[in-house]
Amino acid sequence: MVKKILVINGPNLNLLGTRETKIYGRTTLAQINQMIKKEAARLKVKVEFFQSNHEGEIVDRIGRAGNKYAAIIINPAAYTHTSVAIRDAIAAVKLPVVEVHLSNIYSREDFRHTSLTAPVCLAQISGFGPKSYLLALEGLVSILCRE
Ligand code: DQA
Repeated sequence: MVKKILVINGPNLNLLGTRETKIYGRTTLAQINQMIKKEAARLKVKVEFFQSNHEGEIVDRIGRAGNKYAAIIINPAAYTHTSVAIRDAIAAVKLPVVEVHLSNIYSREDFRHTSLTAPVCLAQISGFGPKSYLLALEGLVSILCRE
């Protein structure tokens, strides 16, 4: 059966394209999702997308992912730095999870240097712009193929 990977984007990532373009560039979330879809087809996996500005909705979606997906890619956005609830949801789900960021969070303000979610993820990719998602997908597929 074709493996399915869930891609979750957190708050304000729906505004990509116009939001702080010096940091995040001009690529919209729809365009990033298209790039991910294309890469997924090349790697012979399926992807589904979910974006929410609400912490609880993200927690719910991770909690329901266990028997539907093979892995999760998540950009928790601002919740990276604040959400114990999303961290606990990631820790509870029995799936490999990769955290991604468009920007290099370690080269920005101090409050972005701490990720509450990264320690319970398989890996973190930060700073490659939209390519961060593609690298996460490639890394996950290489691991899923070994299983
Ligand atoms: C972000 C980095 C976060 O610090 C920020 O709150 C975001 C986007 C990134 O992709 O670079 O919303 O996750």
